[in-house]
Amino acid sequence: MRITGTLQVEVWRQADGGAEGGFETHTVTGVSPETTVLELLDLLNEQMPEGVEPISYDDGCREGICGKCGVTVDGVAHGPQLNRASCQQQVAAFTDGQRVRIEPLRAAAFPVKKDLSVDKKAALRTVVKAAGGPVGMKALTEAGCISCGACVAACPNGSGQLFVGSLLTELPPLAKDDDDRRTRSGKVLDAAEESFGPCSTLGDCTEVCPAGLPLENLSAVAREHLRRRRGSADG
Ligand code: SF4
Ligand code: FES
Repeated sequence: MRITGTLQVEVWRQADGGAEGGFETHTVTGVSPETTVLELLDLLNEQMPEGVEPISYDDGCREGICGKCGVTVDGVAHGPQLNRASCQQQVAAFTDGQRVRIEPLRAAAFPVKKDLSVDKKAALRTVVKAAGGPVGMKALTEAGCISCGACVAACPNGSGQLFVGSLLTELPPLAKDDDDRRTRSGKVLDAAEESFGPCSTLGDCTEVCPAGLPLENLSAVAREHLRRRRGSADG
């Protein structure tokens, strides 16, 4: 039977984006199978030796809705349970005394702010703005994307294709007409190319996406690229 009680947590410390980071190991007690990754970090901070600065991490609704949380647990964005945000990941899979490594979401587009906290908003917002701000946000909401950025961190290329494809999938009905769609989509493709790496259709993104968004959403990106190429060939 899997039980938890004490975990050896190797946690990433980094004073700021320009500082060199490294792992620090702490023993965390009082962990139950229902403890979530964010609660584990709460416990770690509660048990931090006096004089040691608490760990910074991104926190929000803790209901898997806001997309603010996100850390890498043993090399997996959000954590080892498929399709769950870090705030919904329970540590039940770990055994008593086990070592667990927690570090920030890793992606070139997400610079570390401090410890486990990263700036993922800047890169994701660039794409949303390119779609026309509110229209981009509405498309993401319609798609069910919570803008957590885990798909980018899970991809070995740092591609944001699942995020971008999910937005583009829902964009057409929100555009005024076909010209409007084409303009918005073109800007989204340019912004995505600037912010993220290329997609190799590996599918790692779909395993971590808390919204369970499908691999088929990637095809919206290819479709818009094709339409754009055809448009410039026709023009
Ligand atoms: S597509 Fe999924 S993993 Fe990517 S940002 Fe949206 S909710 Fe997060
Ligand atoms: S804290 Fe809101 S999704 Fe995790």
